[in-house]
Amino acid sequence: LSGFEGKHFISIDRLSNEELRGLLDLSKKYRDVYGRGSSVDPSTAPKPLMGKTVSMIFQKRSTRTRVSTETGTNLLGGHALFLGPSDIQLGVNESMRDTASVLSRFNSIILARVFAHNDITELAKYATVPVINALSDMHHPLQTLADLMALEDHFGDLRGKTLAWVGDGNNVLHDLMLGGAKLGMNIRIATPKGYEENAGVLATTKKLAAENGTSDVFRTTVASEAVKGSDVVVTDTWVSMGQEAEYEKRVKEFSGYQVNASLMKQANPGAVFLHCLPRHPEEVSDDVFYSDQSLVFPEAENRMWTVMAVMAAQLGKL
Ligand code: CP
Repeated sequence: LSGFEGKHFISIDRLSNEELRGLLDLSKKYRDVYGRGSSVDPSTAPKPLMGKTVSMIFQKRSTRTRVSTETGTNLLGGHALFLGPSDIQLGVNESMRDTASVLSRFNSIILARVFAHNDITELAKYATVPVINALSDMHHPLQTLADLMALEDHFGDLRGKTLAWVGDGNNVLHDLMLGGAKLGMNIRIATPKGYEENAGVLATTKKLAAENGTSDVFRTTVASEAVKGSDVVVTDTWVSMGQEAEYEKRVKEFSGYQVNASLMKQANPGAVFLHCLPRHPEEVSDDVFYSDQSLVFPEAENRMWTVMAVMAAQLGKL
């Protein structure tokens, strides 16, 4: 991970395979050192981010991303600043470019959750410190690290395993398909017509799949077709933040895409369920979400170990 120092963390396809492997391994190491089962005394645990500060720009709400970053920075000895939509001048009275230039003079890392992905690329262009994409309309790479960590914990090597996505072709799917392909997983996607994943991300996933020994990137509009023969079933909200006005229309158009016990029966024996949270009952039934097949809470916990790994690697303080 030495080559990752100073780099931005924008989307999973921008990572080399070695960087992705290194970030997952460092995340597991941090869980061993700072986690509940650790034998290391918290007062003497290493503090590689001592003296470092992280500004966290949030244009949208967050539970996991905010709390995991703030807590994880603290565990590593640094300090994180929460900058909500009404806390700073950004978007009202100041541009992303100027914000990037100013925060770079105060902070060691800038993490941002935005609406338009262009805001992340603008921030990365003008920041002189590493930027972390904490969700944009195109990508959610921190979530993918947490998801892959949960899957490796459960299955070990993921090569040849099949991941099925059921629902909206959104930002969470984009990085998960890119990351899954990098680790040699087969990818199967079911979305309603009109809610497909980005065509460019699909093309990149197919390329990564071929490079990493699997060519099975399959898409359909039929949920059961995607899930049949899969080892992992993943879904997300049908109505992301900012799409609230489309609620009625979306719930109608996603009818038949709920992950429930009947759909899970199409998956392989031993298949697991993932959801990045927050969760709504329309996209996944209680009997799947709270079942033994569900990895959703370890997945949520991994958000902290993985963002800690990204920050430490960006600052070369492993
Ligand atoms: N999964 C996720 O990003 O959760 P939050 O929106 O709560 O940060």
